[in-house]
Amino acid sequence: MHGFQRKGGKLFAEGVSLDGLADRYGTPLYVYSAGTIVDHYRRLRGVLRAVNPLICYSVKANSNLAILSILSRLGSGFDVVSGGELERVRKVGGKMDRCVFAGVGKTREEIELGLRFGVKAFHVESEEELEQIAAVAGRKKGRHAPIALRVNPDVEAGGHAKITTGTYANKFGIPYELVAAAYRRAGADPRLHLRGIQMHIGSQITRVEPFRAAVRKMIPLVERLRDRHGLEYFDVGGGLGIVYEDALASGRDGWWKTLRSEKAMTLNEYATSLVPMLRDLKMDILLEPGRFLVGNAGVLVSEVLYRKSTGQKYFTIVDAGMNDLVRPALYEAYHQIEPVGKPRPGAIPTDVVGPVCESGDVFCHDRSLPPLERGDRVAILSAGAYGFSMSSNYNTRPRPAEVLVTGSRARVVRARERVAGLWQGERK
Ligand code: LLP
Repeated sequence: MHGFQRKGGKLFAEGVSLDGLADRYGTPLYVYSAGTIVDHYRRLRGVLRAVNPLICYSVKANSNLAILSILSRLGSGFDVVSGGELERVRKVGGKMDRCVFAGVGKTREEIELGLRFGVKAFHVESEEELEQIAAVAGRKKGRHAPIALRVNPDVEAGGHAKITTGTYANKFGIPYELVAAAYRRAGADPRLHLRGIQMHIGSQITRVEPFRAAVRKMIPLVERLRDRHGLEYFDVGGGLGIVYEDALASGRDGWWKTLRSEKAMTLNEYATSLVPMLRDLKMDILLEPGRFLVGNAGVLVSEVLYRKSTGQKYFTIVDAGMNDLVRPALYEAYHQIEPVGKPRPGAIPTDVVGPVCESGDVFCHDRSLPPLERGDRVAILSAGAYGFSMSSNYNTRPRPAEVLVTGSRARVVRARERVAGLWQGERK
């Protein structure tokens, strides 16, 4: 299913009109389609059924309790990167033994929390962190800290420089060549329980080659460490890219089509290239998708405030800003923008910009859009992942409300922030 489509020319989230939601709850407004999340989760599990994967949803993509709750009910595990994210998962009744705890800089308090809650494993990113985890576990009698090391396979995955992770030019993981020695030391430590091995090569990866290359490089190492230390699982990380362009497509594989000139991999290609290698390992297989599950399950609805022309440029000023959705400003990320109402005929090149006092507060440059008038709403598509979760109060702007649509039912799953709440905790 595809959660967002036009009916009678107007944009709908499942069975609910986006204009109606904006009338009721105001703008800017995040709207999520529950059905899309369920569908994406099931499809992913479906193509990988030969390895019966444990999908650990990467909470950072969208940590709203309602979304965690949907995934928890589906049996999903979770990939968390902070004590806060772990608390969120617990709040919705997520199974702690399906939680992996990642991150390059876990504090002592966070390690204690993970141990107390009984996470499946800590994903460890340095030798010093390993020592710290052992030390914390050592203070709790009879406690073994479950761990997996995050391997940096040094594979170029492409994508934006700010979100590549799998090479030695960035901070993540333990270099491939040093991993076996680190496992040997960890294996000799009675305070540690070696459970698995993990990799993650980047985000918004739309070709299958980097995944294939990384897994192929990892396999001999994984086999050796499995035999030597009895590792139970291999976690291949997240990073599956989604279609940002033409994201409003109808049809069976609507969110997974051709990207610009590049041919994006299909879910089937991802599965067929990895499954044979993974199946032969005879280990549990974990996956940490974030964006794939929720990216195209959310839009940001915003209202057109003003238009103006400088002679050189034509600007459409909307009420959502970079504080609400930072991806275009931060990564020059492309997000499709669609009129919420029936599109007027014609097209005008325009920069769609927010009200924040930064020239980078731009959602698109010179994009041909149907004519828009004051009071019209637009939907910024593919905003379900790294949208609200990266939002801020910059310019003392209250963050948008979030609404979850299930069929013909809409429910506010986070109230719009109030201005007076923004200085709570401050002192004059
Ligand atoms: N596992 C690990 C260890 C990660 O670091 C990440 C994302 C994921 C899984 C999930 O990756 P996904 O499946 O969502 O690609 N804010 C950026 C993306 C940052 C990704 C950080 N790590 C963006 O808006 O594009």
